[in-house]
Amino acid sequence: MHKITIAIDGYSSCGKSTLAKDIAHRLDYIYIDTGAMYRAVTLYCLKNNLINEDGKEVYKVQEFLDDITITFQCDPETKKCEVYLNGEMVENEIRSLVVANNVSAVSAIKEVREKLVSLQRELGKSKGVVMDGRDIGTVVFPDAELKLFVTADTEVRAKRRYNELRGKGDKVTLEEIKLNLEKRDHIDTHRKESPLVQADDAIIIDTTTLTRQIQADIAYDLVIEKVEEKANQ
Ligand code: DC
Repeated sequence: MHKITIAIDGYSSCGKSTLAKDIAHRLDYIYIDTGAMYRAVTLYCLKNNLINEDGKEVYKVQEFLDDITITFQCDPETKKCEVYLNGEMVENEIRSLVVANNVSAVSAIKEVREKLVSLQRELGKSKGVVMDGRDIGTVVFPDAELKLFVTADTEVRAKRRYNELRGKGDKVTLEEIKLNLEKRDHIDTHRKESPLVQADDAIIIDTTTLTRQIQADIAYDLVIEKVEEKANQ
């Protein structure tokens, strides 16, 4: 089957990564979680005291970019990919609330974006890739054959993230999570560098009331349509 590029963008905790993983698995495509890359750079900044206490100012990260290496290791069986920061697996650490509270400030920095966008283009250059983030259909792969824009009701998003973090033993409150989501949405949509916007040719999937299976079915049908369209061109 002809391989295409699938770009999935949307707000935080809308179910983008679950959907991306499910379709990558069904299609035997590679899945790249670009949020994990921004989170890993944020973790580096936190570990090296490059962020001030209120998370508003990031110091001199530009000077350290050459010291930051982000890689993925994927299990060929389960297709599960884990992110590594300078050789260390950081998949769990990057999902903490402290990283979530600082990642929008770090991802608003032009030089950080340039480094990660170029790495993302490299990772996806052979097609057969599902990539999720905020600027995949607009900046990273504006020519992606299929672009999805995922949305969901804020309450539902907060509850999903709350259950996920509580499940891991994090003592977070629903209120904290909601505040974090609202703050991140605001920064992600208002920043100067590649703000989150829906690409003109993206198809919206609202996951508020859809089961995981139905979301994956909808996306899979869209992929098949695109692949057939390509084959007939
Ligand atoms: O998808 P996520 O919640 O793991 O992403 C974490 C943060 O990274 C998010 O608040 C915005 C930023 N991000 C971005 O700016 N561009 C991307 N392509 C992916 C994520």
